[in-house]
Amino acid sequence: MNELVIRQPDDWHVHLRDGAMLAAAAPFTARQCARAIVMPNLVPPVTTVADALAYRDRILAAVPAGVSFEPLMTLYLTEQTSVAQLAAAAASPYIHAVKLYPAGATTNSDRGVRDPLSIDPLLAELERSGLPLLVHGEVVDSAVDIFDREAQFIERVLKPLLARFPKLKLVMEHITTKDAVEFVLSQPDNVAATITAHHLLYNRNALLVGGVHPHYYCLPVLKRESHRQALLVAATSGHPKFFMGTDSAPHTQANKESACGCAGAFTAHAALELYAEAFDQVGQLARLEAFTSLNGPRFYGLAPNEARIKLTRRAQAVPLFIPVGESERLIPLRAGETLAWQAQLVP
Ligand code: DOR
Ligand code: ZN
Repeated sequence: MNELVIRQPDDWHVHLRDGAMLAAAAPFTARQCARAIVMPNLVPPVTTVADALAYRDRILAAVPAGVSFEPLMTLYLTEQTSVAQLAAAAASPYIHAVKLYPAGATTNSDRGVRDPLSIDPLLAELERSGLPLLVHGEVVDSAVDIFDREAQFIERVLKPLLARFPKLKLVMEHITTKDAVEFVLSQPDNVAATITAHHLLYNRNALLVGGVHPHYYCLPVLKRESHRQALLVAATSGHPKFFMGTDSAPHTQANKESACGCAGAFTAHAALELYAEAFDQVGQLARLEAFTSLNGPRFYGLAPNEARIKLTRRAQAVPLFIPVGESERLIPLRAGETLAWQAQLVP
């Protein structure tokens, strides 16, 4: 198959940031995706409906003229979040989910929840309203190896949480392990998962063999090959529980190539091309559309996009960097290398 036309995708998990980085990053997502679930881990985080609406306006201002793009906003859950704030979020047509970061798990998560088992009134409200809870699924415990943090989170946090709130709509974000695939499949329809392109394409060798490759450092960290294989099977199965969420997470070159580099891979410049490459690897391009364009809207209760996007098997060079403001740079995944596919919206 050298050409494929599918419905325009949505990105169900992306970081667009703010300020100069927002201006640099948002056009890439808007170019390919009709909608995107926008992560709220700004500094300070997006914790109220008012914050989210103001952020939405800043995102729309960063979208190039003539491009149609709808940011689907989220709130950042803190231990101070009120039930009333979550009810207001559920009533807003602009807020589509709430994000749970275990405090200390990842970038800008310090205002997150210290004990995810301590927020029952908030979870009860989400279960009542049907507003999805998006979960960063890693335990924060110095005694737990970083490669085991996702599997431990399932046992220690997710299973007890879903036992108490069995009807809660929950997305386990950016899953990275066979354990997570099996857990999500064992749950009823209200539990789903996003999978990134980089976790479908790479294992931890990409990060660590031949030197440390900081642009392949993200959280949850890349795992061993057997986990990547399990993710590929899940994503390409056509199962409605699995959908596209790039977790494209831009940081400046200086913050990535540092003695303590930030977590995050920027993939929005080539999101669909990277997913196409992963599906092509296992001969499953016919199932790409379900993953990128049908399963996500179905879970969120939205209609799939009407616009179409064409993928062509044609080598495409990735730039060495993307300018950010006057003097900074963003290094896209595969910088200086080539992509096997090219995506273009059908006019
Ligand atoms: O790699 C990551 N980067 N994982 C996250 O959970 C957060 C994200 C970011 O905001 O940079
Ligand atoms: Zn993320």
